[in-house]
Amino acid sequence: MVPVVDPLPPPCPRGGFLLATCQAGAEATLAERMLPLLQRAGRGAWRRGLVTFRLPPGIDPPDDPLAGPLAGAAFARALVRCFGQVSGADDATRTRALLDLVPRAAFGRLHLWPRDPRPAAEDDPHGQRLAASCTALLQALPGLAAGPATTGELVLDIVVDGPERWWVGWHRATTPSSHCPGGFHPRSLPGDKVSRAWLKLDEALASFAVPLTAGARAVELGAAPGGASQRLLEAGLDVVGIDPALVDPLVAAHPRFTHWRKRARDVRLRDFRTFDWIVADMNIDPTSTMESIGRIVTAPGVRPRGIIATLKLPDWSRAAALDGWLAAVRAWGYAPRVRQLSTGGREVCLVALRSPGPRRTTQRPDP
Ligand SMILES: C[S@@+](CC[C@H](N)C(=O)[O-])C[C@H]1O[C@@H](n2cnc3c(N)ncnc32)[C@H](O)[C@@H]1O
Repeated sequence: MVPVVDPLPPPCPRGGFLLATCQAGAEATLAERMLPLLQRAGRGAWRRGLVTFRLPPGIDPPDDPLAGPLAGAAFARALVRCFGQVSGADDATRTRALLDLVPRAAFGRLHLWPRDPRPAAEDDPHGQRLAASCTALLQALPGLAAGPATTGELVLDIVVDGPERWWVGWHRATTPSSHCPGGFHPRSLPGDKVSRAWLKLDEALASFAVPLTAGARAVELGAAPGGASQRLLEAGLDVVGIDPALVDPLVAAHPRFTHWRKRARDVRLRDFRTFDWIVADMNIDPTSTMESIGRIVTAPGVRPRGIIATLKLPDWSRAAALDGWLAAVRAWGYAPRVRQLSTGGREVCLVALRSPGPRRTTQRPDP
């Protein structure tokens, strides 16, 4: 059993590893964006959905790097200080190896999750194997509990690499996503929602702690069939959905919903003056999405409180434009944050809150 005494695992004098899990396919993009943030780090192991970084001696990232200098690690779903790997044919063998590997620390929570691509939820044998591993670990580590961590809790992380191998590490729960195993949004899509965009927006609101207030007004560019608008309506907002396509009757009939059945660029700029939130979820090139938003938020008299935008990445190389997009948002007078959500596809979610003071320029995003 791991004696639970020290507040934190000791730093590794010979340097250590940082492990990041991500959407399958995002590994190169993740590494490209992380390496400059991790000065002098080297690339370590590489699997689908998982990349490790070798930290030089003396570099000791904060307890929760996602909350610190690595906040720009938009493609990391979870960041873990890695102890190493354990392998064995069964849970008991791997658990024994884990107990030898993990130093003494005040872990309160156990997070166990498979790296991407995750097996489908309906894959019963896989789910049962995970549940059995979790039970075996909790029996061997009686001080720990499974499930979402509480703020500040020290989490023992296990990433299931394959049937016989686990990666083992730790993090402290600080940012909303770091409370959940693997940074996965803990909710699934309720049956009465009209599209998966409901779940994506639900994760965006939770993950960025977006301060929506009942009675505020939101406009959504690309609103059909209406899942995201449905989530905004549930938060008590008045919603205008802009989309040439049809909105689901369930949403269209809502007394606080209005459909402007046209393209975003066909709406007069002065019609955007009353909105507190601009939400964008159009299935168009990300540069065009940025141009649409920029046209609105830089117009005279339009000064929404915040922006929540999905930026599609038609291919991973488009992530190279991310810093330019963030610079444009700052120039509009907003403080942007960006993350690849666990419920989304090959895209990022950008959330930006209005900065105090006047906007700086009317800069358009780089193409
Ligand atoms: C991914 S779907 C949006 C899903 C939607 N947010 C929901 O909650 O169900 C993308 C939508 O963008 C719309 N769209 C594409 N280009 C647009 C434009 N220029 N202006 C407005 N809507 C646009 C499409 O008609 C399509 O309905």
